[in-house]
Amino acid sequence: MTIKRKKHVSTPVVIILGVLLLGGAIFGWYKITKTVSYPKADIVEGDFPKKQQDPQISQNYAPELSLEQSANLTVVVNKKHALPSTYIPELTYIRGVQMRPEAALAIGSLLADAEKAGFNTKIISGYRSYKTQENVYNGYVSRDGQTQADTYSARPGHSEHQTGLAADVGNASGYCDLEICFGQTDFGAWLAENAANYGFIIRYPEGKEAITGYQYEPWHIRFVGVDIAKNIITSGKTLDEYFGVSSGDY
Ligand code: DAL
Ligand code: ZN
Repeated sequence: MTIKRKKHVSTPVVIILGVLLLGGAIFGWYKITKTVSYPKADIVEGDFPKKQQDPQISQNYAPELSLEQSANLTVVVNKKHALPSTYIPELTYIRGVQMRPEAALAIGSLLADAEKAGFNTKIISGYRSYKTQENVYNGYVSRDGQTQADTYSARPGHSEHQTGLAADVGNASGYCDLEICFGQTDFGAWLAENAANYGFIIRYPEGKEAITGYQYEPWHIRFVGVDIAKNIITSGKTLDEYFGVSSGDY
């Protein structure tokens, strides 16, 4: 007669099963508490609320702006901060010149309302490439010498016209084109009063020459968006001062 031995589960198998069960329990507990403690939105990368940039905080630009900074609607371009020669913004046509689409839309609306108010207007200059600015500037240097040219014309890379956000406007008649007397014309006065309602500022105001680095240009308007334009007007600051960006001469 054969004796049947009762089968016993061996000790190592018991240990392995025990470890697996314990591991599973710990994993399950971890999953539950993690789900409860951290809602999904908080743990998905990139889902954190973005900090609103305070426009009053200094933008701390390096002398040469990055391509990303160059494309910012609030970029400050001046004698101390230059656009890369390779920077070309997205452009669209408005009244025979090229501008960035946001600025083109706004200036179209500004000039339409100016005309409703009775003025015949024109855009003298919008976007200018690095190369075009180089030619313009060199022409003025040949005519007036560099010291004089630097008071009214930007060196290549230093012109806001390369952002596609600036324009020189004038009376359709040509009266006081690119001259300080433009500010005294009816359209010039209307522009100073109303530009901010369309998101533009007079970028080189009278009395701020030492800060902007340029003579008063009542015809040169710069798009920054309606809220910032209105805040700048209220503050009485230049764009450079408003953003705490160094400015003045080269
Ligand atoms: N006239 C302004 C300063 C420019 O050249 O961009
Ligand atoms: Zn200009």
